[in-house]
Amino acid sequence: MTKLRQHFLPWIKVLLSQGLALGGLWLLPASILPGAPLILLLQGIAACAIGRALGLSLLWIPIQILLPLAIAYNAVVPSWVYPAALVFCLLIYWNSASEQVPLYLTNRRTWKALSDLVQTSGARTFVDLGSGMGGVVTYLARAHPSLQAVGLETAPLVFLASKIRVIATGRGNAKVTYKSIWEEDLSAHDIVYCFLSPVPMPRMFAKAKAEMRPGTLFVSNSFAVPGKEATDISDVADGRKTRLYIYRM
Ligand SMILES: C[S@@+](CC[C@H](N)C(=O)[O-])C[C@H]1O[C@@H](n2cnc3c(N)ncnc32)[C@H](O)[C@@H]1O
Repeated sequence: MTKLRQHFLPWIKVLLSQGLALGGLWLLPASILPGAPLILLLQGIAACAIGRALGLSLLWIPIQILLPLAIAYNAVVPSWVYPAALVFCLLIYWNSASEQVPLYLTNRRTWKALSDLVQTSGARTFVDLGSGMGGVVTYLARAHPSLQAVGLETAPLVFLASKIRVIATGRGNAKVTYKSIWEEDLSAHDIVYCFLSPVPMPRMFAKAKAEMRPGTLFVSNSFAVPGKEATDISDVADGRKTRLYIYRM
């Protein structure tokens, strides 16, 4: 049930925000509305804003903008666009089917909470297992020049985007590597961070227990390890009520 909710809730929010945007545009006098493609674009932009207010991540913006145009111009869209869009999505959501880990990103307040944890624990090395767009890694590398912050990612387009982000920050202590989270030797890190899904948690924690050094920290965003009491729980004061489950090895 939780899994179903997790997969379908964003789509329900997309449909709701598109419906509200459409309703809003209907209320406007026709005389001030631009021509058809621009109205559709406007609807997409309004849906983006509503979707953000409903808690959708920035990753939904392209879908929200393209959806009204794709529906209205379905008949004239060249047929290659659909397989191309499918490949594009595959390169982003690479691990959704195989690992049952979708792409959603740690927010800024949680970056700060992780930064505080780095500070208080005196960690010198940090790894983000499944580092997404590299936000955690680049933030921590900037905030803590003496920290080695590493990210591991295997979704091709996401990896590429994060690599460019890391290069753009110009910080030698930030790195993202194209590598599976299951291949990393966790003994190299003082803090191991993950934001995955409930599915890999038991296997990942067993790996952490086998490899991590005593006293080091395993931190899971939102997903507790089943049957294992956390050493500490950090509640982040953000909109989605993020919880960091902290396990001291
Ligand atoms: C929920 S996102 C979290 C992104 C990032 N850690 C953050 O918090 O902003 C999970 C990420 O893990 C990646 N991932 C899932 N399984 C993986 C695997 N076996 N190896 C490397 N990355 C993986 C996904 O591609 C996705 O980008």
